[in-house]
Amino acid sequence: MTDQTAVTDKPKAVPTLPNAAKVTAVTHWTDRLFSFKVERPQTLRFRSGEFVMIGLMGDPDPATGKQKPLLRAYSIASPSWDEELEFYSIKVPDGPLTSRLQHIKVGDEIILRPKPVGTLVTDAILPGKRLWMFATGTGVAPFASLMREPEVYEKYDEVILMHTCREVGELEYGRKLVEHIKSDEMMSEIEAGKLRYYPTTTREEFHHMGRVTDNLTSGKVFKDLGVPPLNPETDRGMVCGNLAFNKDIMAILDGFGLREGANSEPKEYVVEKAFVD
Ligand SMILES: Cc1cc2nc3c(=O)[nH]c(=O)nc-3n(C[C@H](O)[C@H](O)[C@H](O)COP(=O)(O)OP(=O)(O)OC[C@H]3O[C@@H](n4cnc5c(N)ncnc54)[C@H](O)[C@@H]3O)c2cc1C
Ligand SMILES: NC(=O)c1ccc[n+]([C@@H]2O[C@H](COP(=O)([O-])OP(=O)(O)OC[C@H]3O[C@@H](n4cnc5c(N)ncnc54)[C@H](OP(=O)(O)O)[C@@H]3O)[C@@H](O)[C@H]2O)c1
Repeated sequence: MTDQTAVTDKPKAVPTLPNAAKVTAVTHWTDRLFSFKVERPQTLRFRSGEFVMIGLMGDPDPATGKQKPLLRAYSIASPSWDEELEFYSIKVPDGPLTSRLQHIKVGDEIILRPKPVGTLVTDAILPGKRLWMFATGTGVAPFASLMREPEVYEKYDEVILMHTCREVGELEYGRKLVEHIKSDEMMSEIEAGKLRYYPTTTREEFHHMGRVTDNLTSGKVFKDLGVPPLNPETDRGMVCGNLAFNKDIMAILDGFGLREGANSEPKEYVVEKAFVD
């Protein structure tokens, strides 16, 4: 007699996600912001500053029961040499993805499409003396990657991160990262005192306040840091924020004589949206 139970009781295959990546760490920074790490697929290569599509399986279609991946663009916040991939995320209360993604835990899996792209890469700007990183909100994510990229410090004498958020707590992820870079033995050797940090808030009292744009046009940031105004001969820029911020800062950079570049045609600055409004 054949053993039928062995056939019928065969465990059902656990459905695996396409391009699954296992979560290895999760940190909640505020009620609106969190970061997490996932295992890096062995074949994934990217340039610091690029983004990928990540997500979760969507709800089953009521008619067919089929599930489709629910994907969104995310900057990789870790540098290209890191063994893990890090992401820094907003929690949009009714956002299709982040209303669920914010609940991920160590051991869970997310979907990660291994096709990194983007313009916030050193290849898309010309060599120069000073690299400015202009960010609002989660727009700091690509700079979290670039700030840890040795090539950045090989190419530039000075690297300045200007990050503006509404409230002090929203700056914490970036602040801690800068602190780590400056105190870690290996990172501080790479950074070699070149990284400068200029955080500001707009809606909560802080030692430096005001929008990135206003602090550039008033000249306050140049005075505070003791650097000359932006000059196309020496200064390079990377911009990542909401659409209005990107537009406003592009006008300011154009006014200083810097030109927007791209992967195919490097110039003095590059821009990427932190999210779609
Ligand atoms: C190139 C690119 C890179 C991105 N990188 C990141 C990243 O590193 N981290 C990240 O959190 N998001 C990033 N985003 C935004 C991300 O793709 C999603 O929009 C976000 O995860 C919210 O997804 P959702 O489905 O919950 O809501 P969605 O339906 O996508 O968004 C709903 C609304 O929430 C607001 N919103 C969305 N994202 C943000 C944000 N990051 N900050 C403030 N408000 C937002 C907007 O008003 C948007 O209309 C990036 C977007 C682009 C285009
Ligand atoms: N952050 C929060 O506490 C909070 C809470 C609830 C809901 N939300 C919602 O979440 C969404 C995103 O909020 P967010 O705070 O992450 O991002 P955000 O609205 O893009 O603001 C981030 C920072 O960028 C500044 N900024 C915005 N537009 C600018 C411009 N054109 N030029 C220069 N600086 C500019 C803001 O200054 P200003 O403050 O001067 O605008 C703020 O300091 C919004 O729709 C918001 O209504 C945010």
